[in-house]
Amino acid sequence: MIKISKDKPKFETTTLWDFPTQNYGDRPHGDNKYPGVTPAFIIWNLLQRYTKEGDLVVDPMCGSGTSIDVCKEENRKVLGFDIVPYRTDIKQADARKLPLDSEVADFVFIDSPYSDNIKYNDHPDNIGNISCENAKFFEELEKVTKEAHRILKLGKYIAWLIGDQAKKKKFVPVGLKLYSILAKYFKPVDIICVTRHHQTSNTPIWHQRARKYNFYLRGFKYLIIMQKALKK
Ligand SMILES: C[S@@+](CC[C@H](N)C(=O)[O-])C[C@H]1O[C@@H](n2cnc3c(N)ncnc32)[C@H](O)[C@@H]1O
Repeated sequence: MIKISKDKPKFETTTLWDFPTQNYGDRPHGDNKYPGVTPAFIIWNLLQRYTKEGDLVVDPMCGSGTSIDVCKEENRKVLGFDIVPYRTDIKQADARKLPLDSEVADFVFIDSPYSDNIKYNDHPDNIGNISCENAKFFEELEKVTKEAHRILKLGKYIAWLIGDQAKKKKFVPVGLKLYSILAKYFKPVDIICVTRHHQTSNTPIWHQRARKYNFYLRGFKYLIIMQKALKK
C-alpha cells in the first residue's frame, strides 16, 4: 500500500514521466549541482514498484548519491559505488567489477554516462570519457550490464536511465543500442520516457539553431526496466 503524502512524488501510472525539478520534499536527494544528477522522483517511483522495505538496492554509478538518499528515506538498504566518489558514503569501485558477491542485490539502478558529453572526472576508468560514437563505449556498458546481472538475485529488477546523442549532424541512438545489450541478459519489462528539463541547450538561441539547421534538441531520456530470469 503506497502512502500518499505531499512531501512524496506522484506515483506514476503511465510510461511518460515529467518531473519539474530534480528534488522533492524539503531535504536534498543527491546534489542538484552535480553534472548529470538523476531526478530523485525517478528513483522513488522505481522503489515503490520493484522493492520493499529492507531490500538491498545497488547503484554502481552513484554520482552525487541521489539513490542513497532516497533509499535511506524509504527504509531500503543501499550500496552506492562510483569510480570517483563524491561523498564519504559512496564506495570507490568500477561498475564493471563490483566488490560484491553474486546474487545479493534486490534492485539495481544505473544512470550511466551516455557519451563523453559531460566531464565527470579524469579517472582513466571513467566510461564518461569515451564517446558513444566509439564502439568501445558500448563494449564497456556491456561489461557493466554483465556485472549488474551477476550481483542481482534471480527474478529481481534493473532500471537504467540513458539518453541519445545528436552531435554535428551525427545521431547515435544510445538508448536503443543499450536496450539491445540489456536484452541479451535480461527479460524486457518496459521503457519509460522521462522528459528532460534544465538542459544547457534550453535557450532561445539553441531553439533557433535547431530550426535553422534542421536538427532536434534532446527532449527525453529512456528509463529501461528489465528483469533477471527466475531460474538459471
Ligand atoms: C550520470 S552520473 C550519475 C548521477 C547520479 N545518479 C546522481 O544522481 O548524482 C554517471 C556517473 O558514472 C560514474 N562512472 C563513470 N564510469 C564509471 C565506472 N567505470 N565505474 C563506476 N562509476 C563510473 C561517473 O563518475 C558519474 O558520477
